[in-house]
Amino acid sequence: MRQKIVAGNWKCNTNLQEGVELAKAVDTLVANEGADDVVVVLGTPFTHITKVVETVNTDRIGVAAQNCAAEAKGAYTGEVSAEMVKSTGAEYVILGHSERREYYGETSETLNKKVALALENGLTPIYCCGEALEIREAGTQNEFVKKQLDETVFQLSANDFKKIVIAYEPIWAIGTGVTASSEQAQEIHAFIRSAIAEKFGNEIAEETSILYGGSCKPTNAKELFANKDVDGGLIGGAALKAEDFIGIINGF
Ligand code: PGA
Repeated sequence: MRQKIVAGNWKCNTNLQEGVELAKAVDTLVANEGADDVVVVLGTPFTHITKVVETVNTDRIGVAAQNCAAEAKGAYTGEVSAEMVKSTGAEYVILGHSERREYYGETSETLNKKVALALENGLTPIYCCGEALEIREAGTQNEFVKKQLDETVFQLSANDFKKIVIAYEPIWAIGTGVTASSEQAQEIHAFIRSAIAEKFGNEIAEETSILYGGSCKPTNAKELFANKDVDGGLIGGAALKAEDFIGIINGF
């Protein structure tokens, strides 16, 4: 069944103590107020994962890494492998975020290796795609996103593709305060779902969760999540305040 998912992406924010406090606050709010049918995920820095897994009720809240290495193991100083992430108790890994593509040179080739290792280790990739402002202004966002998917996750077998979550994140909306309108989000989400259907068939397309990311807040979550092809959100800034995050979770 297609899942409703709200995933926080804390990015490079919070020290360990602050992160644990935030996780505790989210855990309490989710236990008291969170709708049962929404899967909640916290995407924390690597250093926090083990502690956050210990802090939250993991039957209710999943934990994600924000990246993993493109190699399984070995002499790759500073890298954290998918196996290491999995061994902490994390269940998800955010891959292909535009900040990683832009600032750390991640290409489709690297991402294919990361997705494969994540899947081999039983992690669920939350795979990000999305266009920059110039592309949106030129009106070629569908082609751009389709190419990002064609070069990466559309290369997977149907069986593996079923295990991933897609996050559509227009770069012009990330951290800018500018959100895609509800119509813009629905339009491209429907396009992504139709591209999945073309590649893997209707059944898989209907079951794939497609999240929206980019300045999603408690005030606009309801309108965004009301769309039939928007299955939740990948939340940056608003995931750093437990009250805002629960407001978004309860946007369904
Ligand atoms: P934002 O970030 O909610 O701060 O715009 C979203 C993301 O980059 O995942």
